[in-house]
Amino acid sequence: MRKRDAVGTSRPSDGVEGKRGPVARLLIVHHTPSPSLQALLEAVVDGAGNDAIEDVEVVTRPALTAPEIDVLEADGYLLGTPANIGYMSGALKHFFDRVYYPCLDATARRPYGLYVHGNDDTTGAVRAVETVTAGLGWKAAAHPLTVLGEPSKDDLEAAWELGATVAASLTLE
Ligand SMILES: Cc1cc2nc3c(=O)[nH]c(=O)nc-3n(C[C@H](O)[C@H](O)[C@H](O)COP(=O)(O)O)c2cc1C
Repeated sequence: MRKRDAVGTSRPSDGVEGKRGPVARLLIVHHTPSPSLQALLEAVVDGAGNDAIEDVEVVTRPALTAPEIDVLEADGYLLGTPANIGYMSGALKHFFDRVYYPCLDATARRPYGLYVHGNDDTTGAVRAVETVTAGLGWKAAAHPLTVLGEPSKDDLEAAWELGATVAASLTLE
């Protein structure tokens, strides 16, 4: 079992205004039921919090418990899910069911990224997430990352890049 304490709030902040100026907030919402998904999560968190990106606070929440206020207060999103029966996980669907209307309008045009892990076909899961994010008006900051089976070194590097790209997109707003 890999350590699970690598995720949470990756950078302390005094709130939205840091000492050096405004701090953008990236909210990572994930469902992580297996070691493969844990490895991908840790890689995106590492990429999002890398030292080259200044003034971005990274907040990580499980999809089953991520509250609406975290969605409203974030400037962008990174979503992670397994493919389950040709769709996103029930956990991520539950997240969207809870936050969709409370966050509609207020979060439109914010950037987001997505990673999906599966064992044979992630197409339906990607399409399902993209349908909901299109409804919310979120804008893709990167192509969705899809990984089949045990993540390779290249997969983990791609996950790191995804985290870095979405976090960096917040500083370009
Ligand atoms: C009920 C169920 C449905 C699944 N459906 C899909 C699917 O439609 N496409 C796919 O690629 N993988 C599918 N999987 C595999 C999961 O995505 C995979 O188990 C998950 O990402 C965790 O990875 P792991 O099996 O390597 O631990 C399914 C798994 C379960 C338990």
